[in-house]
Amino acid sequence: MSKLTAIVLAAGQGTRMKSGLAKVLHPMCGKPMLDFAVAAALAAGAEDAIVIVGHQRDAVTAHLARTFGDRVRTVVQDEQRGTGHAVQCALPALEAGTHAVLILCGDTPLLRAEDLRSLADARATGDVELAMLTCRVADPTGYGRILRKEGRIIGVREQRDATAAERAIDEINPGVFAGRVDFVRRALAALEPNNDQGELYLTDIVTAAAAVAEVVGVPAPAETLVGVNDRSQLAAVEEVMYARIADRWRREGVTIRSGVKLDASVVLERDATLEHGVVLRGDTHVGSGAHVEVGCVLEDVRIGAGAKLLPYSVCSRSSVGADARVGPFSHVRPGSDIGPEAHVGNFVETKKTILHRGAKANHLAYLGDGEIGEGANIGAGTIFCNYDGFQKHKTIIGPRAFIGSDSQLVAPVTIGEGAYVGTGTTVTKDVPADALALSRTAQQNKDGYAARLRGRLAAKSNGA
Ligand code: UD1
Ligand code: CA
Repeated sequence: MSKLTAIVLAAGQGTRMKSGLAKVLHPMCGKPMLDFAVAAALAAGAEDAIVIVGHQRDAVTAHLARTFGDRVRTVVQDEQRGTGHAVQCALPALEAGTHAVLILCGDTPLLRAEDLRSLADARATGDVELAMLTCRVADPTGYGRILRKEGRIIGVREQRDATAAERAIDEINPGVFAGRVDFVRRALAALEPNNDQGELYLTDIVTAAAAVAEVVGVPAPAETLVGVNDRSQLAAVEEVMYARIADRWRREGVTIRSGVKLDASVVLERDATLEHGVVLRGDTHVGSGAHVEVGCVLEDVRIGAGAKLLPYSVCSRSSVGADARVGPFSHVRPGSDIGPEAHVGNFVETKKTILHRGAKANHLAYLGDGEIGEGANIGAGTIFCNYDGFQKHKTIIGPRAFIGSDSQLVAPVTIGEGAYVGTGTTVTKDVPADALALSRTAQQNKDGYAARLRGRLAAKSNGA
């Protein structure tokens, strides 16, 4: 009926980032900072978004297509001739029937959907021409100041164009607008570059709107409007976002202690506990009642209900089943599937290995390209010798098999159900079910030999 489209300005290079990467692609909480502004606009009720790109347009466009699909399209602003010019570039891409636009910048990732929604609602109520976010700040340096006459907004003055009296104004323009499309088209067509930078200023549409109707100001909290210009600001903004993400999950019933960093994409279930310093990245999901101890780092990992990750375990692209136990100091590498109630303990490394229910590898092992049957036990120091220098091979261990400590399993090899591999065995052939495999040499004891040897060696060193 009255379609709302977001226009997101992201053509600038971001010189102050001093980076080969376009500013808006710099990651924050696991994704490019641009995603936050775009997602907030869509969550606020914009049906789709047009992002103005310039610097590194191909990379920005490809990223947006991957992330948002056809809800977001890009238009190119070849030469950055000002914020007004940027929005002009977007107008031809507006679909017929678009009644209003929400205009914001791609470098303000803390903007909240609720504030954008209030802004869009304020404009839609009474169908006003233009509404804008406003904000009072302790230090307005660098921002455009909001000019008012008898309380009504009449314009925005950039710092560099402002008089001393105007510079004293502490109400600033955060650069976020909602406008009726017909009005925005008309006002942008009339822009002139008569300012200190010789640019087309988007802010001049405020004066145009004020000449015909009231410009509605919607106050928003200063901390949500911070723009990122350099890496120091990016770090500060990211900390705020980390705190916001953690708080959101706390309110959903998750215990999160200090120093936890959660990517925006992480999903947590009720009664999960994340201890100090846990880092969860990417597509990580922690099930209900799971306990992730101090210092664990997980990326793209699915943790089942009630599982326990003991301190300093590192897991990626893997899954850990319900009530399983991992760590301390385990390294679960991509393609691992630690089954329900299975245990992977101290200094155990897994890669592309499945442990079925209740299987255990509690100490010092390398388990690569393996499948370990239900209830099997892998002794300390076991190595799956999976790589011959050219190819990887599989080790398959049957249910309830017992692999003695310090064994090597030279893949490809299969150990049958219930088989026993004696401690210190090098297994090079399949072991049938319920068999015992032994490859070590028989032990010999030579009585008194050690004492004689010591005597000889002592005599030799005294003579020297
Ligand atoms: C702008 C506002 C200022 C406001 C401030 C809030 C104008 C004239 N001034 O100033 O009132 O207080 O934002 O942060 O609008 N961009 C383009 N193409 C361009 C120019 C800019 O895409 O040709 C993009 C930039 O990449 C950036 C955003 O627009 O994301 C804002 O541009 P910037 O030059 O940083 O504006 P400010 O000088 O900060
Ligand atoms: Ca600027």
